[in-house]
This record gives sequence, C-alpha cells and structure tokens, in this order.
Amino acid sequence: MADFTPRVFSGMQPSGDLHLGNYLGAMKRWVDMQNAGTHETVYCMVDLHAITVWQDPKALAAATRELCAGYIAAGIDPERSILINQSAVPEHAQLAWVFNCVARMGWMQRMTQWKDKAGKNAQNASLGLFAYPALMAADILVYHATHVPVGDDQKQHLELTRDIAIKFNHDFGVDFFPETEPVIEGAATRVMSLRDGSKKMSKSDPSDMSRINMTDDADAIANKIRKARTDPEPLPSEYVGLAGRPEARNLVNIMAALSGRSVDQVMSDVGGMQFGQFKPQLAELAAETMGPIGAEMSRLMDDQAEIDRILARGAERAREITAPILAKTYEIVGMVGSGA
Ligand code: TRP
Repeated sequence: MADFTPRVFSGMQPSGDLHLGNYLGAMKRWVDMQNAGTHETVYCMVDLHAITVWQDPKALAAATRELCAGYIAAGIDPERSILINQSAVPEHAQLAWVFNCVARMGWMQRMTQWKDKAGKNAQNASLGLFAYPALMAADILVYHATHVPVGDDQKQHLELTRDIAIKFNHDFGVDFFPETEPVIEGAATRVMSLRDGSKKMSKSDPSDMSRINMTDDADAIANKIRKARTDPEPLPSEYVGLAGRPEARNLVNIMAALSGRSVDQVMSDVGGMQFGQFKPQLAELAAETMGPIGAEMSRLMDDQAEIDRILARGAERAREITAPILAKTYEIVGMVGSGA
C-alpha cells in the first residue's frame, strides 16, 4: 500500500443531550489521540447522517451547536484538530455519491444497523438510511484517514469502508484509498445507567438520575453519584470479583476512566471499601472533572457566533485536504469539466 499520513477521523451524530457515556466512550479518547500528537486528528458532527431519519430543523441546528460545544469543552482544540460539521464540507457528500456506485446492494442489506433501524417497515425507510454506511466510508476516505476510533457497534461499518476502498482501488487499477484501521473502544469505557447496571447510560432513559449530563453542574453530579444504585457488599480487591455486580463494576469503570488509571490500579486502592466510603471519593472526582466541562459547554452554547466562526474555520481547513482528494477521485473515475 502507498504511504498515507497517519490521520484519525471520527464523528458523532448531533442528537442532543450529551452525557458521561458520550464523554468517556468517545470524546475523551479523541482528545487523548489529539494530545498524543502522533496523528493528525479530524473530528466531525455528522448532520448529514442525522437527517437519514426525520429531524426538526431547529432542533438539528441546536443539537449540532451543542455537540460542537461539547467537543470543545471536552478538550478538542480547534487549532490542533480539525473540527467540522459534515454538511459544511461538501466533498463528504460528493465522494459518497461515487461510493454509492461502488458499494453493492447486497453489502448494504447485510448491515445490522440498517436491519435494526429500518425494522419491518424497510419500504418506508429513507434511501439515505440505506446508503448511510457509504456516506460514512466517504467521511473517512475523503481524508485518507488511517485510523478510526469508534464503538463496537460501528465495526461492521468500518469493514464495509475497507471493502469500498478495496473495490474502488481494484476496479480502477489504483492504489488510492487506504485500508483504514478501526480502533475499537474497550468495555471499560462503556458507561452504564446509574440506576440499572445492565443498561447503557442513555439520553432516552426517563430518569434523569440514571445519567450524568455533560451540562450538569458539580453539585448535581456529586448528588447523582451518591444516589447511584449499588449493592450491600464491600468492594473486592480484584476486578474479577465484580462479576455479577454490574452497578459496582460500572462505578469502578467510571472511576478508572475519569482518573486515567487502569481498573486494576483502582481496585488496589478501593478494595475492601464500603460504598459509603467509595462513593464520596467518586463523587468528588466526577464533580471535579465534569463540572468545569459542563460550565465551559454552557458558556459556549451561549455564544453561537463563536461556535459558527470555529466551524467555518474548521471547514476551510478540512477542504485543504478533501478538495484535492475529491479532485483526484474524479480524475480517476473519468470526470472532466471541473477545471482541476
Ligand atoms: N455512524 C457513526 C455512529 O453512529 C457516526 C459516524 C458517521 C462516524 N461517520 C463516521 C464514526 C465516520 C466514525 C467515522 O456512531
């Protein structure tokens, strides 16, 4: 394979109401990759993906700005990373069209997310929902991204991205698109509900006590941790001892992720403690780390002009990468007339 610049791309849908699961499961890891300085990093709000199902226009715009505020408050630096809204960089949609003509119907039909989302009423789903993974491949490959951090549920879409790259390269006899590597997030970063350790933390849970919202203030955060469901046993000294105790394990995972330690390090500190002793420590840690993020997010969300300026600048920087890659793609495919 040709040499590709090490470049990370990832994205999240602007669906509103960000919580600790979004922070620990995705954003914090993206920030770590940015700060490691080993790769260029491009982070995206995927509004074109969001509209594959109906979105109220005002709510979509608000959720996109909220997500941008969340990224920045979490530590994504719009100077060190390229931070964009997908629709503002037209090459994503343009490359997606080419990929719609590379990908096969049968490949798309096998996608489990398509089957889950379309359900029994597939005839009434949007054509965009069916094509969703080809747009995702375009998001990644329009940057020649080499690494993509995602949750386990996106693994199949990344395999499809590789299949599209391979078929394009093969059909046109080129070595143009890289075979992107997935960077799958581990189970310890999967944050569960504070009320039921068997369910993922979710914005759609009716109980606000089940989640820590990224905009919660320090007092609310500490209160939710203190009231989190647990069991009556003390904490074991080894992680394996948490089997069958999903609530306890979740709190330990959260402590490890927030403090940047391994679960084994955390267990050696907290083994033998009662929850009456453990919870105040976790409450303090969570309030200390998440409180300032929430405050910064609220500040940014009140400054729409600042967000829009950052996104315009991000789009401009992104296009320095995407425009030449799209132009080259068009040339490979045999398209003329764009002046390139
Ligand atoms: N489909 C991803 C999700 O739902 C979001 C996404 C869109 C994405 N384009 C991407 C993630 C490109 C990684 C790379 O989580």
